[in-house]
Amino acid sequence: MKIAVYPGSFDPITNGHLDIISRASKLCDRLIVLVSNNIAKKGMFSSAEKAQLIRDAVKDLPNVEIDCFEGLLVQYVEKHNIDVIVRGLRAISDFEMEFQMALLNRKLYEGAETLFLMTSAENSYLSSSMVKELFYMNGDINPFVPKCVEVAMRDKLLGGKING
Ligand code: PNS
Repeated sequence: MKIAVYPGSFDPITNGHLDIISRASKLCDRLIVLVSNNIAKKGMFSSAEKAQLIRDAVKDLPNVEIDCFEGLLVQYVEKHNIDVIVRGLRAISDFEMEFQMALLNRKLYEGAETLFLMTSAENSYLSSSMVKELFYMNGDINPFVPKCVEVAMRDKLLGGKING
């Protein structure tokens, strides 16, 4: 049984992430979408909220599970006998950081193998940050995120619970 993990901040999950999840789920027996911490990013949603939004968005994919983890990715990979880490690549600009991360992870734990999947061309410009900026500026985010995310973002705004 091949187990893959797709880690990310997912703040919030976008159609670009969903595209990678759908592609990756066809390549393994189990795919764990892992809500992880990127210390460089300040979040709008809590990990539990992000996990719930992902759960809603992937409910039709039977071999996809959701988990949250706060430590080093390689600790999770080793503990759960993960075969491969999946990351999405949009443009060349993603490559340098992803290359560094993959090599660092392999240095930390030699069993950490990273598989890069290309997003579809129509998602190649999409990011969570772009979605948030668009949302704060009253733009229409519907083409870029699953419905549950649009609803959750509106709820946050109405509840005044946005961190920025
Ligand atoms: O969606 P992102 O922000 O590009 O995902 C980056 C993420 C969360 C996968 C990365 O920051 C990560 O692996 N964080 C967990 C902590 C860790 O292992 N850091 C060392 C590798 S950079």
